Amino acid sequence: MPAGPRSRAGRRLARARSLASLRKALARLRARGERVAFVPTMGALHEGHLSLVRLARRSAERVVVSVFVNPLQFGPREDYRRYPRPLARDRALLAAERVDLVWEPGVEDVYPPGDCTRVSVDGLSEVLEGASRPGHYTGVCTVVARLLNAVQPDVLWLGQKDAQQALVLERMCRDLLLPVAVCRGPTVREEDGLALSSRNAYLSHAERQQAVALSQGLAAAWILLKEGERSAARLAAAIRREWDGYPLVREDYIAIVHPETLAPLQQVRGPALVAVAAHVGPARLIDNFPWRGR
Ligand code: PAJ
Repeated sequence: MPAGPRSRAGRRLARARSLASLRKALARLRARGERVAFVPTMGALHEGHLSLVRLARRSAERVVVSVFVNPLQFGPREDYRRYPRPLARDRALLAAERVDLVWEPGVEDVYPPGDCTRVSVDGLSEVLEGASRPGHYTGVCTVVARLLNAVQPDVLWLGQKDAQQALVLERMCRDLLLPVAVCRGPTVREEDGLALSSRNAYLSHAERQQAVALSQGLAAAWILLKEGERSAARLAAAIRREWDGYPLVREDYIAIVHPETLAPLQQVRGPALVAVAAHVGPARLIDNFPWRGR
């Protein structure tokens, strides 16, 4: 296992690449029966990722993070090749958080030669993000199932920012009887409300200023819900009105759905998920908020 960068506290970051070195390092971590919390990431880390690391730290004695840009979850015209990979910076951030182990597998470590096994969650995977990105959730489920099998954590931490991803993965863990508790951390935002995302790096100055439309639209819907509005059509119209002032923002979808089934709602009578996706320049951004029904 290579010795990594030192954190400000002077600690070395333990890193593994191959499955064999991961297993060796995990055996050491678990030697005293300590619990492991796991945060899977694609790197290009920001405060959203780090918030999950901090929640993970409070949920178990040991924290393992994976950094792997998973080719299987990108469509043929998506940004796999240009996805940011600032590895040295990511390592320094994780060292500063006193992460116990970082797994940085190569593609061949996760997808052995001749690999032909896929994991998919029917139904939940075909709507919203899945409708715009065919095959995306099969890619996500296939990689996370493998990461979980390799790391065998007690707790898995996912972000509410990717609400549908969290839902699909919760269902996968349940259906496959995986012995892991799945937890969600809240969305971390910039001061103006923009949800942190590795893809925000693609935005020009003007696009970045207009990207605030996503969270502003959601805020408008939230206020209407608070005031008692229950019509999904009127909530969506309010978000769209908000977006009208931002010509660089092109709607992909505005959805008001049941938070467990993702079925579209006509009326918001209980819990709901208000989820949006839009193209802003070269970036496709998503955001959402869960409505608890009151
Ligand atoms: P990535 O986009 O790197 O995100 C890793 C985790 O960080 C996910 O659980 C995501 O929901 C969470 N996250 C991202 N932005 C956040 C924010 N602003 N606030 C809180 N949490 C945030 O999601 C993936 O990677 C991949 O699909 C992965 C699960 C690693 C499988 O390849």
